[in-house]
Amino acid sequence: MAAADFVVVANRLPVDRVEGPDGEEIWRTSPGGLVAALEPMMRREEGAWVGWVGQPDVDLEPFEATGIRLIPVRLSADEVADYYEGFANDTIWPLYHDVIAPPQFHREWWEAYLRVNRRFAEAAADAAAPDGTVWVHDYQLQLVPQMLRDLRPDLTIGYFHHIPFPAHGLYAQLPWRDQVLRGLLGADVIGFQRAQDATYFLTAVRRRLRYEVKGAAIIVPGDEGESRVAVARAFPISIDTEPYLELAARPEIQARAAEIRASLGNPRRILLGVDRLDYTKGIRHRIKAYGELLEDGRLSVEDVTLVQVASPSRERVDAYVHLRDEIELLVARINGDHDTMDHSAIRYLHQGFPREEMVALYLAADVMLVTALRDGMNLVAKEYVATRADNRGVLVLSEFTGAADELRQAVRVNPHDIDGLKDAIMSAIEMPPAEQGRRMRALRRRVLENDVNAWSSSFLAALAEARTR
Ligand code: G6P
Repeated sequence: MAAADFVVVANRLPVDRVEGPDGEEIWRTSPGGLVAALEPMMRREEGAWVGWVGQPDVDLEPFEATGIRLIPVRLSADEVADYYEGFANDTIWPLYHDVIAPPQFHREWWEAYLRVNRRFAEAAADAAAPDGTVWVHDYQLQLVPQMLRDLRPDLTIGYFHHIPFPAHGLYAQLPWRDQVLRGLLGADVIGFQRAQDATYFLTAVRRRLRYEVKGAAIIVPGDEGESRVAVARAFPISIDTEPYLELAARPEIQARAAEIRASLGNPRRILLGVDRLDYTKGIRHRIKAYGELLEDGRLSVEDVTLVQVASPSRERVDAYVHLRDEIELLVARINGDHDTMDHSAIRYLHQGFPREEMVALYLAADVMLVTALRDGMNLVAKEYVATRADNRGVLVLSEFTGAADELRQAVRVNPHDIDGLKDAIMSAIEMPPAEQGRRMRALRRRVLENDVNAWSSSFLAALAEARTR
């Protein structure tokens, strides 16, 4: 296969397994924002995407789907357990989300992380054309930039970190803290969601490695006295807004929104939460605040329903198993105490839905609740805003999300403050339409201007500039 001038490396390939015309299984690219943003560039530069198909022990040759060359990386069942469920999602994920759940440190998980990162780096090194560009994504692959640079010093390498980077006091807990920093510093540009994440990273580099830092530039010493410059700064990610605008304008989607409302007994207000079922999302805090509002008599189930979509995630990791039990106990208790024959306090859905149904839900929701305890960005907040072309609806947004830096006209909350959260929910429920419109128009301007294309262009421009240094 011809070498590619532009290579994306991410833990997952952007594909879903679907049934073909003769009942056979085929892989089709999934409609993610990242693929949409990179698709034009992938086509132009004959790009390739290196990643895992999401299942253990699947041996697949490189293949093409909708014009993108996909290069599968195989993971054994043990590697899925130690690298993906273990080091990525039970060590790095909780540590980087401010230790909301305790991170587990196991040396054999680290060994698997090293081994699998090396496999991704080798696959990228094989795929990339001379002097090509490689863009590595996210916390599962923090060692890939330096491994790749060692194999292919001719490449320009970018890395984007989709989740938070923690303050130094927390980061310092990681037994392999220096190795991870060196891994990331193999990139020419290291992108973060928030300015704060970049600052924490620069502090860690200064304090742990004692490298010189000038603004966003880091002087990275090489083996033989020479040095290079790596740049670390924020590039807040966004969504591909186009499909949300298009779906929101469709009469059948609007009809579906009305149908959803009717199926809930036409409450005066619908509240909505949409999350992967993850302990970082503050689902428990949100449901607790809502339950207390019912208990206090400030809300009644005739008036208000909370729809909570919690899509299944990382179901073999203990912390996620416990979280599910906790949430489901809480939901059942609140519904048991408050439901009537006609109305339910909480409509809880432990399922994922296609985008069409999500847009209908966003249109039906008077109040969108994003109460994450820590979140790199939170794209659900941006999806809700993009969908509300009618300039109605209120976004309640945790200050601990990356989105809070940009979406200033949301109702801001500290989800740890349950009384504050209750008051914020009430003010959102009671917000007059004119005020809703004023805020939503400003939010929409921001999201439509700074969409995922603007994000990828600005990152790639910074990378192109790095190449000329
Ligand atoms: C977050 C991470 C992504 C990850 C996604 C879903 O958004 O930043 O890298 O792909 O969660 O998690 P999963 O473990 O299913 O890939």
